[in-house]
Amino acid sequence: MRMVDLMERKRNGGELTKTEIDEMIEQYTAGGIPDYQMSAFSMAVYFQGMTTGERVHLTQAMAASGDQVDLSGIEGVKVDKHSTGGVGDTTTLILAPLAASVGVPVAKMSGRGLGHTGGTIDKLEAIDGFDVELNGDTFNRLVNENKAAVTGQSGNLTPADKKLYGLRDVTATVDSIPLIASSIMSKKLASGADAVVLDVKTGTGAFMKETEQARELAEAMVDIGNGAGRHTTAVISDMNQPLGYAVGNALEVKEAIETLKGEGPDDIFELCLALGSHMVTAAGLTETTEEAKEHLRETVHSGKALETMKTFISGQGGNPAVVDDLENLPSASYQKEVKAAQDGYIASIEAEDIGTAASMLGAGRTTKESSIDLAAGIVLHKKIGDAVQRGDVLAVMHCNTDNTSEAEEKIVSSYMIEKQQTKPPQLLYDVIF
Ligand code: URA
Ligand code: CA
Repeated sequence: MRMVDLMERKRNGGELTKTEIDEMIEQYTAGGIPDYQMSAFSMAVYFQGMTTGERVHLTQAMAASGDQVDLSGIEGVKVDKHSTGGVGDTTTLILAPLAASVGVPVAKMSGRGLGHTGGTIDKLEAIDGFDVELNGDTFNRLVNENKAAVTGQSGNLTPADKKLYGLRDVTATVDSIPLIASSIMSKKLASGADAVVLDVKTGTGAFMKETEQARELAEAMVDIGNGAGRHTTAVISDMNQPLGYAVGNALEVKEAIETLKGEGPDDIFELCLALGSHMVTAAGLTETTEEAKEHLRETVHSGKALETMKTFISGQGGNPAVVDDLENLPSASYQKEVKAAQDGYIASIEAEDIGTAASMLGAGRTTKESSIDLAAGIVLHKKIGDAVQRGDVLAVMHCNTDNTSEAEEKIVSSYMIEKQQTKPPQLLYDVIF
């Protein structure tokens, strides 16, 4: 195989074989193909695309480039859930115990937050004692015993994707559907689950701003997952404003617990029911998603979901008392109100700016190395469609710093207030099988 031949063929719209893709990724990972050739290849893919076969082969080759998690010691159909990234997206914290409480084995690897998006691992660390670095044996044992465990990424997972993603970032080749889809799915394949439920966000606060783009990405990922023998479903959901009301680590844990009590925000609960119902059917526990939703509602009403949250927390060394008394979560020294400057209705909220403002208050990182304040964040009081009067509270900043003017300005400017009332955005757009 000569890399220059593959580049030329792809540039001219031709197709690569599985053997060629395998060799290319193997050599690239080992340092045998220089970055300039891989960059030019990525640009050729950007313009020429990839067939479904090529996408599956690329994804499998990247998944095989490093460690692959073996979940065969866990009974049942292991289901993973993945979101393409949003602001205030507390769903994993809710779905892990929720799906587990009806019998779905949830074996999930999660990441930390960076920039305006939070990470599930940081949120879990807001629970005193919670261990997010489980070894393989403990992880498998906990999923068998409690049906749910969440751990940070350990080992050398998908080094080919890490290298290629870094390269794409600086060669204007990130936003190529085949490359995004194979990047995300390579990590899912390597994490070992039998089935994957994807939450593909669309809207101003999402990676994919337009619903059509989100649908295209969802279809690409579902085709790859199914093509690689993993039962894959995608839900397309709204990110035109933050999800729920809380943005920030401990604040989102609180919101998750309230949701498991049946007292959380409607949008989060509805999204969890949608994603959860696909997890339940993928695990083969019910025929239909309607039946699955009924089970999920029941487990919340009966208190079983909340009990599972406690078992899940104590299983990983955390203090389960946070579930009964939210005062056990870290809380910030200051709560500062951000007020509306005019009367009207909320027309839009820039989710990314809310995420950035939370980050400025200490909830997020600007670099991978920076430390975060688990108590910091923002609680929204108004969402799209709500009426406001001048002086009404739009949001409350939770922080341990006095220096909040920059974050406050960001929050104020992220809210558009207009005279005419706007309808709240639709939450769920489509399901791709
Ligand atoms: N997220 C990923 O993991 N990979 C991409 O290519 C884009 C977003
Ligand atoms: Ca939230």
